[in-house]
Amino acid sequence: MTQDEMKRKVAAAALDYVQDGTIVGVGTGSTANMFIDALASRKDEILGTVASSEVTAERLRGHGIRVLDLNEALTQVRALSVYIDGADEFDGDKNLTKGGGGALTREKIVAEASDSFVCIVDQTKQVEHLGAFPLPIEVIPMARELVMGVARDLGGEPVVREGFTTDNGNIIIDVHGLLITRPRELEDELNSVPGVVTNGIFSHQGADVVLMGAPDGVRVID
Ligand code: 5RP
Repeated sequence: MTQDEMKRKVAAAALDYVQDGTIVGVGTGSTANMFIDALASRKDEILGTVASSEVTAERLRGHGIRVLDLNEALTQVRALSVYIDGADEFDGDKNLTKGGGGALTREKIVAEASDSFVCIVDQTKQVEHLGAFPLPIEVIPMARELVMGVARDLGGEPVVREGFTTDNGNIIIDVHGLLITRPRELEDELNSVPGVVTNGIFSHQGADVVLMGAPDGVRVID
């Protein structure tokens, strides 16, 4: 089975976590795109969706799926019922690295606004420790060199993502070479640096359930 076939299977399996009459948070990336395509079959049963990026909103609308602004949604419901999104890595405690697509800040906001986070990945994303995938950090442009210095002090090699601006008008710094053994502490440490909007460690907003696609089917890790 190819990686794309595994992604498609977990994307379809995530439909089981979509409850009728609720607002669903939707992530960004190739696996999330497959989920959006599957969600089209349920579009008349849900109240709507909140998108974690402009590109996701566009794909949802392309299927005729209602997209609400998060603030508008939270005047109608206390929380979104579920947030469904992919990840670049996940560890045994369901901590994640996210932001390969650069949407990490909105992804973290929508995850926080949801009652649960169902992460859809194929088995290539499973790691013992986060860090093999370069850690994305969304940074206000003025703070670029400051944050690069902090990343170097932590033993990483920061690289500015060339030609990329986030939906929030900021830059992404990808930090290579970190071995992240204490994800929650590093998430907090990086987020305390002025100019950091957020970083791609999702420990506070880690997954509640990971659906992992493998050649023999979908494994549920909860
Ligand atoms: C985007 C993300 C994605 O979830 C992550 O990059 C995984 O993407 P894909 O499903 O294409 O492998 O965090 O910011």
